Amino acid sequence: NALQLHPATAWLNAAPTPTQRPHNSHKGSFGDVLVIGGAPGMTGAAILAASTALHHGAGRTLLHLLDTAPPNICSTLPDVMQTSTSSTHAHLAHATIVCGCGGGTAITPWLAEALTLTPQLVLDADALNTLAHQPALRASLQTRRARGQHTILTPHPLEAARLLGCTTAEVQAQRLLAAQALADQLQSTIILKGSGSIIASPGHTPHINPTGNARLAIGGTGDVLAGLVAARWRPGTDNHSVACQAVWEHGALADQWPSQQALTASALAQAQLTPFQ
Ligand code: APR
Ligand code: MG
Repeated sequence: NALQLHPATAWLNAAPTPTQRPHNSHKGSFGDVLVIGGAPGMTGAAILAASTALHHGAGRTLLHLLDTAPPNICSTLPDVMQTSTSSTHAHLAHATIVCGCGGGTAITPWLAEALTLTPQLVLDADALNTLAHQPALRASLQTRRARGQHTILTPHPLEAARLLGCTTAEVQAQRLLAAQALADQLQSTIILKGSGSIIASPGHTPHINPTGNARLAIGGTGDVLAGLVAARWRPGTDNHSVACQAVWEHGALADQWPSQQALTASALAQAQLTPFQ
């Protein structure tokens, strides 16, 4: 495959801002994002993804925490709706779902349902690890594509290696090939994360993202990316373009970060881009 660097300014200009929202729009115009994850000890991962969706234009942001005694996030994120098992079921067929952030093994039944029902599905972290060990669930990614449902997977190199059945070193030695092989095998858009994230989709030329820096190499920034992808994925928009835009924006936020200020995932979740001149 030929390499192609995408025109960064085009993605920046494509980023929706509040002023670009049509005057007669309503929250339903921008889609619901529902994050499912946050098993005991890992609730922060799902909260970070939900906070990012909230701060980046999702019409409504919902959160299903898998912790058996989930914290009430109302005081810190009152705009996010925490869902019960039954209301989560009710949203699976229409919301954009982020599945897996801090999900542990409790994610498995939700992953199976989302793979069947959800039109736009972002899979991260433990959803990817579950897929790596369950061939039947992996196979359902292909049938999803045939049904017109779309999936964006956001593996870091170790998660990609588990999915490919190879070593992390092998993935890193051939990142473009690894990302494209996963995209073709799983009939999905792949964001292979790390310095120079790769975005690959079946039938597309893969992209190497030019933004981002090592300040992102901290826990939680991957959860922020998963939330950002979902927030930017308007119903019906092209998944490859959405993935390129979100990865570009995630990296650009880090590139614009004031040098004297600590970059944390929770601050990144709320940060907004300053328009480039
Ligand atoms: N340059 C540019 N971007 C980077 C760099 C870098 N040097 N290092 C990391 N990033 C970006 C990646 O591209 C990705 O978007 O930061 C993000 C990191 O995402 P993850 O690797 O998924 O990390 P995260 O999930 O936030 O935290 C690590 O995940 O694997 C689990 O248990 C593990 O606790 C750990 C957690
Ligand atoms: Mg991660």
